Amino acid sequence: MADIRLEGVGHSYDGGRTWALRPMTWTWRSDRAYALLGPSGCGKTTLLNIISGLLSPTTGRVWLGDRDVTAVPTARRNIAQVFQFPVLYEEMSVYDNLAFPLRNRKYPKAEIDQRVRRVSHLLGLDDHLRRRSRRLDPGRQQIVSLGRGLVRPEVAAVLLDEPLTVIDPAMKWTLRSKLKEIHRDTGHTLIYVTHDQTEALTFADEVVVLNEGEIVQAGEPTELFLSPAHEFVGHFIGSPGMNVVPAEIAGGAVRVGAEAVGRAVGEDGDLPPGPVRIGVRPEFVRITAAQATPGLTARITGVDRMGAYDLVRARVDDHPLVAKTGAGSRYAPGAVEFFRFDAGRAFLFRDAVRCGSIAPLDGRDGS
Ligand SMILES: Nc1ncnc2c1ncn2[C@@H]1O[C@H](COP(=O)(O)OP(=O)(O)OP(=O)(O)O)[C@@H](O)[C@H]1O
Ligand SMILES: [Mg+2]
Repeated sequence: MADIRLEGVGHSYDGGRTWALRPMTWTWRSDRAYALLGPSGCGKTTLLNIISGLLSPTTGRVWLGDRDVTAVPTARRNIAQVFQFPVLYEEMSVYDNLAFPLRNRKYPKAEIDQRVRRVSHLLGLDDHLRRRSRRLDPGRQQIVSLGRGLVRPEVAAVLLDEPLTVIDPAMKWTLRSKLKEIHRDTGHTLIYVTHDQTEALTFADEVVVLNEGEIVQAGEPTELFLSPAHEFVGHFIGSPGMNVVPAEIAGGAVRVGAEAVGRAVGEDGDLPPGPVRIGVRPEFVRITAAQATPGLTARITGVDRMGAYDLVRARVDDHPLVAKTGAGSRYAPGAVEFFRFDAGRAFLFRDAVRCGSIAPLDGRDGS
């Protein structure tokens, strides 16, 4: 197994006018299961196709271990790729489709049989092995495509581009856990592309968040949730996403209008005065009678009863602030309440990038 290293890799489809993928240096470590998460058009497929060799990057080099594969064609990169829709030989049986990548590489017959049966068993295809692929429903055809991507033991990486789109939701859960099982078994580097946060968070060891052709943060699911490094991560992960409230740093304090809501703590040293944005997830906003920083007063505008919890909506000046509270809360629209932020969970952003956090004004930890 080898790391996949992108060195200054970028791609433009229009001769350098715009970057679909901005030049980046990034290493995909071997044996890890990654989710590549981002909205439509952010460059996920472009990135995957550069790794597999379907696309030659406008700039930069692609390394597989210590081998520069930038100019190596897809077939010789030893990477398996599974696409959004089934890619199969329709007239072949399921068995032959699964065996094809191995026969192609001259595996011994007994080993082919053993590998096909193992993958077929894991993916629940045993009852369909003799059927012609054409006769399967699209969901099952896609599972066969997935199997074709997973059957080769020697591949350096398996790239999956939104592979479960055509599969029904209940089956998705099963397949994702099977994928994890297969990954534990084989130790391939796995890159799983999705625009669905739940899919990414439940699947991956590490989630790489891509926005507008740029990796904005990578980390374990909890890290992305608890400690967003970029406003985009705060919005894109979490439901509802992170609150953002414009504020000002003056004399070391964070102010919203005339109200000092806490002390500004820079990521590296002091934060210069000026405009800043507070980012805090609804899960870490509490509504209390007693005023205690970090926090601020806001007028409640409504309560959404979600069943398992309530979302209390409020406004600070013209900006929405949402708190996630226990179900059956008694907050009334129109009331002005104090909204307190959990210690260490309210951050400061400038140009969408995290630059600090908010601490209690008096220096205590506020908990
Ligand atoms: N062949 C192409 N020619 C020109 N522009 C392209 C081409 N393929 C992609 N793009 C553009 O490059 C950007 C990134 O596209 P890409 O397909 O990599 O995004 P994606 O994250 O995979 O999106 P989706 O979630 O919709 O699949 C988009 O703006 C897209 O319009
Ligand atoms: Mg895509």
